[in-house]
Amino acid sequence: MAETEDLNNILTRVGPDTAMGNLFRRFWHPALLGAEVERDGSPVRLRILGEDLVAFRDTSGRIGIISAYCPHRGAPLYFGRNEDCGLRCVYHGWKFDVSGRCQDVPNIVPPDNFDKVKQRLSIIGYPVEEAGGIAWVYMGPLDHKPPLPNMAWLSLPPEQVHVSRWLQRSNWAQGFEGEIDSAHLSFIHGLKNYKGTMQEVVMQDGAPKIVIRETETGFVYGARRDYNGGYYWRVTNWLLPTWSVTAPFVESQGYHGRAWLPIDDEHTCSFAYKYQPNRPYTEEEIADTDSGWTFPPRIEKGTYALGDGTVIDTFLPIANRENDYLIDRLSQQSVKYSGIYGINEEDRGIQEGMRMVPGRPGTIDRRFENLVQSDAAILAARRKLVKLAREVDAGRNSELGQSGDLPPLGAIGLVTPIADFDELLAAYPEVMSQQKINIAAE
Ligand code: FES
Ligand SMILES: [Fe+2]
Repeated sequence: MAETEDLNNILTRVGPDTAMGNLFRRFWHPALLGAEVERDGSPVRLRILGEDLVAFRDTSGRIGIISAYCPHRGAPLYFGRNEDCGLRCVYHGWKFDVSGRCQDVPNIVPPDNFDKVKQRLSIIGYPVEEAGGIAWVYMGPLDHKPPLPNMAWLSLPPEQVHVSRWLQRSNWAQGFEGEIDSAHLSFIHGLKNYKGTMQEVVMQDGAPKIVIRETETGFVYGARRDYNGGYYWRVTNWLLPTWSVTAPFVESQGYHGRAWLPIDDEHTCSFAYKYQPNRPYTEEEIADTDSGWTFPPRIEKGTYALGDGTVIDTFLPIANRENDYLIDRLSQQSVKYSGIYGINEEDRGIQEGMRMVPGRPGTIDRRFENLVQSDAAILAARRKLVKLAREVDAGRNSELGQSGDLPPLGAIGLVTPIADFDELLAAYPEVMSQQKINIAAE
């Protein structure tokens, strides 16, 4: 029990100077959508890995993600004037550029060493890059800064990609664990009468056999279900730290996956991407995605006050804790297994309400779990993340985060007579691309 508690603490705490926080800081993260910030427009308040930040697009179009607070008296820079290539605090006029460099201190008589003074008054400004409709931020040591992850959708034209983000009111780990939990597809996302629907392949067998192959960037795992004399395989890739690459049920959905970016230990920014590798999305497909039945859920832009009262700008789910995720008990009896409308709404409805560690809102008390074989991928991911976090904490593993060098990863879902996972991977090399498999584990 004490060991589980210890592991849970390492797994779920991500603030500055925590082991997992330092591991996360070795990767680029999707901070916000590029479309959320306009040139010289309103800034966006963020908290990432427990740090309060503000994002803005300057006059030249560059995005800055800098400390949320002015170093003079701690005023919130969110209310600042975004003008002439910088954000100017409205309290006494100090000004900062996208890299956090102080450019102006108008409430003093400029001393002889004004440049030095301004340098000393500079604030945090993290490296930012824009790709795939996302503003990416790197918050770790600069000598370990990797290239952006080499995901297939980052180099596609915008009309082939759909990205979104929204608030999840739980620790990041239980959101991420849903990505690598194939068994839950047979239940919470199911239908009462599934015959002839796309859920049929997963609902006939609720106890998939899970096989894991660890890779340089995380792992690839297969969930094998018995299906009409053959097998339905779902093969999912996990890319460190929290990216999933999951297979579509039908081609028109496109490839998709998610990332779980900790806001702090109690809140998470969920990111979803989907893409069509060879064609633009149609208007109907975009409308279908935005309807909220998969990812993203039904959302509206808004503000949210975190536990200590700090306000962030985000996208707020319409089905939420306060309205019981709009569960419909009649539908639960006759139509949907869960009675909840959307796929993320189902997941989030469960993940935000799991038995919490006393005094730690939103974090599962993993001491009370009883894991089974179909939870194997969850267990493997926890172990890998905690091991890596400990290594980074101990000053080892300098190569971490170099995932930009690796080829894009794929995922599949298909019915086949192939029973063996390695045979399946050999038959569908696009799933593995040229990843190296380090360790075979079952
Ligand atoms: S608090 Fe920002 S300039 Fe004074
Ligand atoms: Fe799910």
